Formats: sequence, C-alpha cells, structure tokens
Amino acid sequence: MRKRINVTKPSIPPIDEYCREIKSAWDTGLLTNFGPLERKLKGQLEEFLGVRHLPLFANGHQALMAAIKAFALPGRTSVITTPFTFASTTEAIAGLGLKPVFCDVDPVTYTLDPAKVEALIDNDTAAIVPVHVYGNVCDTESFDRISGKYNIPVIYDAAHCFGVTKNAKGIGTFGAASMFSFHATKAFNTVEGGAVAVSDPETADRIKRYSSYGLIGTEDADVLGTNAKMTEFSAAMGICNLRHIGEVTEKRKNICEIYTRILTEGADFDEKTGLCASGIKLLPKQEGVEKNYAYFPVIFGKTSKDGKSFKGDGGVTVEKCVKALEAENVFPRRYFHPLTSELSCMKLFDKNATPVAKELSENVLCLPLYADLDPADASFIGGIVRDCFLKNG
Ligand SMILES: Cc1ncc(COP(=O)(O)O)c(C=O)c1O
Repeated sequence: MRKRINVTKPSIPPIDEYCREIKSAWDTGLLTNFGPLERKLKGQLEEFLGVRHLPLFANGHQALMAAIKAFALPGRTSVITTPFTFASTTEAIAGLGLKPVFCDVDPVTYTLDPAKVEALIDNDTAAIVPVHVYGNVCDTESFDRISGKYNIPVIYDAAHCFGVTKNAKGIGTFGAASMFSFHATKAFNTVEGGAVAVSDPETADRIKRYSSYGLIGTEDADVLGTNAKMTEFSAAMGICNLRHIGEVTEKRKNICEIYTRILTEGADFDEKTGLCASGIKLLPKQEGVEKNYAYFPVIFGKTSKDGKSFKGDGGVTVEKCVKALEAENVFPRRYFHPLTSELSCMKLFDKNATPVAKELSENVLCLPLYADLDPADASFIGGIVRDCFLKNG
C-alpha cells in the first residue's frame, strides 16, 4: 500500500527553531493575554500583509464574528453572503443572530456575483460578506461601488487569501474589514488562529477587545465579547512559519504547476477562465493578482464547443475520482460540498436558488496540496485524475 496522502498537511518549522522562539515564555511566565510574542507576530503580519491594523484572534471564526459585529448596521437583521464556502462564514453570521441571505456566485471566480448581490439589497441588509474563495479575489471594484451607493459595509472573508495581493495591494486593505484564518490547514498557520484587518485604530481596538470579553482595562466592558485571544504558543508558531512563507509558497506553486500541466496536456486551455476542452475547469488566472496557491480545486464536466461555458456532470466524475484516488490511499476533499445553505443546522434556503454555486459544489474536488507533497506523488495523483475524466468518453 502506498503511504497515505491527505488533502493537506500543515507546514511546521524545525522543532529547534520553535523551541528557541517559545523559550522566552518560560523566562517571562507570560503565556497569553496579548503577550510579547503575540505583539511581535502582530507587527510582523501587519507589515507582511500590508495592512494598518491587525488584531489577532484564537481562530478565524471568532475573528469573522468580531468583524461583522463591529460593522453590521445596527437595527438591521440580514447579511448577504455566499453559500459556496466553509460552514464558518454562514455560522458566524447566524451565530450573531443575523439572517444569512444566500446569493449566487460568478462561474469563473466562484465568488459572490455583485450584480446578484445588488438585486438582494433591502432595508434589512446590515452587511455584505463575500468570500475570496480558494484565494480567488472577489470583484472588489464592484463591491466598493455597491458599498458606497447603499452605505452598506462589505466585510471580506479572506480565510483563503493569506499573502494574496491585488494590483500590489494587500488583500486585507479592501472593504471595511477582512478576516484571515491561520488554521493549521491554511497557507500560513499559527496552529489555530485568525485576524481582522482594518484601517482605523479605534475600530481595531474595539475588535481586539471583543477577543477579551470587551474589557476596557480591568474594571469595565463596554461591548459584549468572548475569549478568543491568541496564545503565546500560537504566536511563536506564526513567527517561525512566517520566516519560511516564501519557500512554502514556491513549493505549493510547483505542485499546482505539475497538476495543471498533467490535467490540461493536449487540450485547449484558457488560463483566464480556467476552462479546458478536456472537460475540466481550473482556477482562473486573475489580472493583477499575486496568488498564494492555497487550494487546487478541479471542476469536472463538459466544456462547450466554443470553449466559453461549462456544464458539470452532476458529480459523476468527482465520485469516480474519489474512488480511484482512495484506492491508492490518496484522500482529496469535496470542498465545498454541500453548500452551507444545505447544512442541516441551516435549512433556510433552497439550493436551487443559487444554481451556479450548486453546480460548482456538486462537481468540485480539491486535490492534495501542501508544501511537503512530493512532486512525484503530485504527478501520480494528476495522472489518476486525468484518467478518470478522459475515460468518461
Ligand atoms: C472560508 C472560510 N471561512 C472561515 C474559516 C474559519 O477559520 P478558522 O478555522 O480559523 O476558524 C475557514 C476555515 O477553515 C474558511 O475556510
């Protein structure tokens, strides 16, 4: 049996490097509560991501809740968002007592379709929460325009977008706020962790205090908060991992290039749309966007004769691929299947109301992608996947 390969594997620094970084916590006895390592990482990340203020959190989910809480318009009850995302995006909204209003996505970038968002805005809309899904950047220009026209804040879920830039600007500089996740499976990790990027210091302070019961000093709390502070142990992991981020991203890029080469070989492939005549769709190459190679989703189906559109095959090829890969001890993931609007804790929405998202969700498979993935294993995996969709006839 070949060794097991999962869809992802966290990047971790050499253990001696981590021990050197965390040693100061033994000297100071400071393990949490915005300690020196947390403050050091915060500064380093603000510089790396090109953002002004970046309160750190114990995880991305709490960071997203804090951002929505800080910006959602008071007295309004609903938030327009995408169902083609991880459960966290939807649960952060619902967890604050707000109603997710699911909107369909763009078939090229899989991100919220601004025209469809605009049609859903009403007097109850408290915020818009788009997701830069798989590191694909949302149409930030359209969302800026919509936000200005209706005076509604746009809060980006940038969980997949660590280090991504658009026109040389950090992705965290768009909208009212952007949330990052530093979960172990992400392009950069602090084991568990997250952050909110914002531009003004007062809001940053309020968001930071949300992670510590809303406390002002030790004697009062002016907002209801939670406990979601990043510990010194997570911060030390982040400081170490940040030193290696360039090399990690290069290795991820190499794996993506191997998959792309194998899966598109011998067929017309349009980098701009990600459409390949062989019957797959890959991530598009977005103008002005520097990627982070966080995910490698493949959508299976049929490309139209003119090469301009794509129709999924109802999950037939995905299931075939999963079987063929699992037989070789390789475990891809059907991210994001089902849609979050289909989760049994939601039951709020008709999945047929977001047909593009539904079709993506039925036909998507994320292939294993992590820095330590052996390029030979990536070639092997790519070959199996290629056999699956080419033998569809
Ligand atoms: C799109 C999206 N949003 C939010 C989250 C939540 O982040 P975390 O796992 O750090 O709480 C994730 C992460 O896993 C995610 O993929």
